[in-house]
Amino acid sequence: MKSHQGNEFPKANRKKVIAMKKSEQENIITVSHLNKEFVKDGTSFQVLKDIDLSVKKGEFVTIVGHSGCGKSTLLKIICGLVSYQDGGVSRNGHAVSGPDAQCGMVFQDHRLLPWLKIKDNIGFGIRNMTKAEREEHIARHLELVGLKGFENAYPSQLSGGMSQRVAIARGLAGNPSILLLDEPFGALDALTRIQMQKEILRIQREEKVTMVMVTHDIDEAIYLGERIVIMSARPGEIQEIITTDKYSRMNRGSSGFAAYKKKIYEHFFQDSAEFLQEAEYMI
Ligand SMILES: Nc1ncnc2c1ncn2[C@@H]1O[C@H](COP(=O)(O)OP(=O)(O)O)[C@@H](O)[C@H]1O
Ligand SMILES: [Mg+2]
Repeated sequence: MKSHQGNEFPKANRKKVIAMKKSEQENIITVSHLNKEFVKDGTSFQVLKDIDLSVKKGEFVTIVGHSGCGKSTLLKIICGLVSYQDGGVSRNGHAVSGPDAQCGMVFQDHRLLPWLKIKDNIGFGIRNMTKAEREEHIARHLELVGLKGFENAYPSQLSGGMSQRVAIARGLAGNPSILLLDEPFGALDALTRIQMQKEILRIQREEKVTMVMVTHDIDEAIYLGERIVIMSARPGEIQEIITTDKYSRMNRGSSGFAAYKKKIYEHFFQDSAEFLQEAEYMI
């Protein structure tokens, strides 16, 4: 199979996705029969296998899977930062052919530029605005993430949680319809993480943005995910997609929450009788 590294997108894929049926265009993200290989030391290895995933406008989808199963690669492909071998990937009914303002991304490490003030980190990619509009836009996004008044601070003056808030503000500053989040709270302590989970839901509601989040925290995947995508170890394949109900998902002490948790754990520890016994205690 021919390898496509960098940003060379195969023409056949573009045609295929443009020709997608109208019904599929209701989905803001459509990934169909996606395969991805990387080449290492001259040998290619498959990272993603036959991924089929559609995300509806306004939905919050979470993705869980073992380390190295291709979760980050999948997000980068959806965002247009990484190319793919075969299959189709579209956003808003158009084949993805590179990164654009329609899709923002937040990474585990906040990737703020230490020499720039917070306002300039957020405003880094903003184009076509007057100075006054830009200032107002940045102030609005800082308020959205609970950091009103921090315009002139430097990243070194912020805690981990605050830096991640800035990264979210930066991800949203281009007014994307989709925000992809790659383990954004992975480096935060447990209490800050829970606070951020609540806030990301508020932000999603206020901004009406479709969100797809990769996380290794199963509680987080349940609490946030209207649907939870469970991936197998490499090559990453979708094993199951769990649709959650809002009451169970948002009540961490509910029996429904515990049942989702047990179901997810069973995917990752299928062979462990001891684990399954422990999991029985969860519900
Ligand atoms: N640009 C790249 N070139 C070669 N191999 C890569 C590249 N990016 C990721 N990989 C490899 O692909 C596999 C999946 O990576 P990744 O998508 O980061 O997994 P995850 O996010 O699920 O931990 C890993 O084995 C990783 O080393
Ligand atoms: Mg990753």
